[in-house]
Amino acid sequence: MTYQGLIHRYGHLLDLPVHKKNISLLEGNTPLISMPRLSREFGCELFVKFEGLNPTGSFKDRGMTAAISEAVGRHVETVICASTGNTAASAAAYAARAGLRAMVLIPEGKVAAGKLAGAMAYGAEVIQIQGSFDDALTLVVEIAEKTPIAMVNSINPFRIEGQKTAAFEICDDLGCAPDWLCLPVGNAGNITAYWAGFKQYQKGLPRVLGVQAAGAAPLVLGHVVEKPETIATAIRIGKPVRGEQSLEAARQSNGKIIAVSDEEILSAQRLLASEGVWVEPASAAGLAGLIAESGQGKFEARDKKVVLVCTGHGMKDPSIITESFRSPKIIPANYEALIGLIEK
Ligand code: F0G
Repeated sequence: MTYQGLIHRYGHLLDLPVHKKNISLLEGNTPLISMPRLSREFGCELFVKFEGLNPTGSFKDRGMTAAISEAVGRHVETVICASTGNTAASAAAYAARAGLRAMVLIPEGKVAAGKLAGAMAYGAEVIQIQGSFDDALTLVVEIAEKTPIAMVNSINPFRIEGQKTAAFEICDDLGCAPDWLCLPVGNAGNITAYWAGFKQYQKGLPRVLGVQAAGAAPLVLGHVVEKPETIATAIRIGKPVRGEQSLEAARQSNGKIIAVSDEEILSAQRLLASEGVWVEPASAAGLAGLIAESGQGKFEARDKKVVLVCTGHGMKDPSIITESFRSPKIIPANYEALIGLIEK
């Protein structure tokens, strides 16, 4: 039978209310791509779970099908979220699909072009906040408490239910859980969902390496970061709502949460692209973390199965690339000019 989306495939394993109405864009079912060259380099069996291939280009669609389906089932008319960009685009798409009004709050000037364009294209009301993601989230929590508007950030438990399915898919593809799972950590919903998913699916448990950007690393520093800053704007978050749960996931899995620099993130992004997988900066944090740990001899991944969760597509944030390369050469439209370049 053709694929019919996450709730159809895994709904029996998700704690969703009976009132839900299935709103799907056929999210999930993303490929687990083997990376032979990187595997050789790190002496392990490396895979990318390419979540950038979801309908709106990020893993958020997994949680959004669940959260919007629940909201529609109880006749909500408006949904709201705070976002560094991907949640906004995803909420906008699923709300559009369901015929709901969507309001998305984003930090002014700090959202990548592909995400902002997505949220606008799907018809959300996009509001820029003169503050951080954390400020925006505080606001939407208050709105959700005081009005019938449904909040679809990952504090919403149905988001976590939907996002668990990525762990199920990895186990289905590998036949078991990997030895290590490396992923970026921002508001800490995804790491929480993966850990819950692996525990529930009972195909073994990975060790979890959560990776924050050094300028936005509250879970590594052990305190809130008032002014988070990183080139990986998706994870530019100083006060993660599921911080405690993510630390618990790292602890229970015998893994850890570490921080990497923006330079390390960008170089991991280039490395993934050099083997054909272009991800947005935040999504390269898992590989950056793996590299940092192996460089210090702390990564015991030899001959192990390692899954890098690449949460968003590179096309979400094109300016990171175009600004760091020289503009492509311009030549006259003739053979001599072209062969001159080729033979240089
Ligand atoms: N990677 C990407 C591409 C993201 O967009 C996010 C979060 C994360 C990783 C971190 O996931 O928050 O569950 O720890 N983006 C949110 C947003 C905050 O608004 O789109 P997390």
